[in-house]
Amino acid sequence: GNGAHAQALVIGTGYGGSVAALRLAQAGVSVEMVEMGMAWDTPGSDGKIFCTLTNPDNRSYWLRTKTKAPVNFFLGFPIDKAISKYTGVLDAEEFSGITVYQGRGIGGGSLVNGGMAVTPKRENFAGILPSINADEMYNVYYPRANAALGAAVIDPNWFNNTAWYQFARVGRKQAGRSGFPFVFVPDVYDWNYMQQEDAGTVPKSALAQELMYGNNYGKKSLQKTYIPAALATGKVNISPLHKVTSVSPAPGGGYTVLMDQLDTSGNVVTSKQVTADKVFFAAGSVGTSKLLVRLRDTGQLPNLNGQVGQGWGDNGNIMVGRANQIWDPTGSKQATIPCGGIDNWTAGGAFAEVAPLPTGIETWASLYLSITNNQHRAQFTWNNTTQQVDLSWQQAWKQDGITMAKSIFDRINSTEGTIYRTDLFGVYKTWNDTLTYHPLGGAVINRATDNYGRLAGYQGLYVIDGALIPGNTTVNPFVTITALAERNIENIIANGG
Ligand code: FDA
Repeated sequence: GNGAHAQALVIGTGYGGSVAALRLAQAGVSVEMVEMGMAWDTPGSDGKIFCTLTNPDNRSYWLRTKTKAPVNFFLGFPIDKAISKYTGVLDAEEFSGITVYQGRGIGGGSLVNGGMAVTPKRENFAGILPSINADEMYNVYYPRANAALGAAVIDPNWFNNTAWYQFARVGRKQAGRSGFPFVFVPDVYDWNYMQQEDAGTVPKSALAQELMYGNNYGKKSLQKTYIPAALATGKVNISPLHKVTSVSPAPGGGYTVLMDQLDTSGNVVTSKQVTADKVFFAAGSVGTSKLLVRLRDTGQLPNLNGQVGQGWGDNGNIMVGRANQIWDPTGSKQATIPCGGIDNWTAGGAFAEVAPLPTGIETWASLYLSITNNQHRAQFTWNNTTQQVDLSWQQAWKQDGITMAKSIFDRINSTEGTIYRTDLFGVYKTWNDTLTYHPLGGAVINRATDNYGRLAGYQGLYVIDGALIPGNTTVNPFVTITALAERNIENIIANGG
């Protein structure tokens, strides 16, 4: 409530925030978590908490009047539709050169993501987080994160036989025929639950086109892992629909935190002021960077250094579809949970997730989300005229990612005698070069902070989310975000500061 005092206040309830809250609470610290999105614990009139990919309603998007689907065309026709403005679960946040997709609600990105829980290859780690001891990460913190998240690989026997993964078997076969390794990757979806969905014994979610706008049953989002563990300590309180707007040093020590309580149309209901001894920025790469840049440049936190706002990347995201031959259907049945990818990182700088396209009809399309080694980095800056934070990313920078993704798909097309789909992202548009699902950086570790996330210039302020990672993780990022948070919070609890 207004005027309250917290020992630790955590801004955001995604991976970094949930790890911080659990470990602080276990160490005896009382924690207030503040989340701008909804709680997502109450079913709507259809009995479900979340809506499906194919029938989106107001629950789908954060304060938009029209959906903004990443695959937004089909056979050249636009498929986005009008929705009423609501604090929905997926934010398609638009900057001048890129749209950044993010989760909104208790659980952050874990509510909307595909659950692919990928640990980078050890030999790539020095290129991801050069200042971090790899032995500690691979011996202690990656295993700790994977265990707490519940990551597991699909049963290969089931994979080989079920209609729901025909699309992925086509992806594997075609990768192999072109000489690329196909690798199974862990996911946090409950694979046993999925087999029960298939058997018809439980309500369906992955097998019922639940993707991107939340998952009602089988996915082990943070709402099923870190967050209930944190709440069970009795030391954590979470306030949904509260957006932090300011953090500044309090006269008597600690920090004054201002926040707006929102209604489900996004209007400010009331503003509150609390104090906290320590504040953890866990609002995600974009949320944390926007807050810190504004607070530095408008005078609330002037001692933050010049690295704040820098080093932002898109994890090289590039999307493309291929048109298969008539004898290679990808299936009218498609599970929404990816389970494997094509690893050409070393040779071409790309790791391509074989992605589902669960439309319910046969499309003969293979869809891929590639993570490429795009080297471009953007920065966040405060725009005094618009009173907004801008991001300097340029759409043309995606060309490097396209070139790396082509190292895989040009060859597959040539082997298979196939072509790219040009009807999925616009009219005659092959590459989706306008978005990222994997924002990373903006408050990079060992530059904007010390080597454990303590913000330079202020005692008791920390960054503990994807903003710490300088732009690329070679694979999908949330396991690395979680493991790094586990490492950093252990040091902060042990050594303070
Ligand atoms: P995260 O974004 O999770 O959490 C930040 C939280 O802070 C949000 O809940 C937000 O609402 C809140 N917040 C922001 N500003 C605030 C403010 N001012 N006040 C209060 N609260 C505030 N990754 C992966 O590894 N495997 C995958 O399969 C996928 N798939 C995928 C699909 C899609 C569609 C998306 C959008 C993303 C993915 N990802 C993914 C990416 C992954 O979800 C992402 O990297 C992590 O969620 C980032 O974790 P963080 O802890 O950094 O922030």
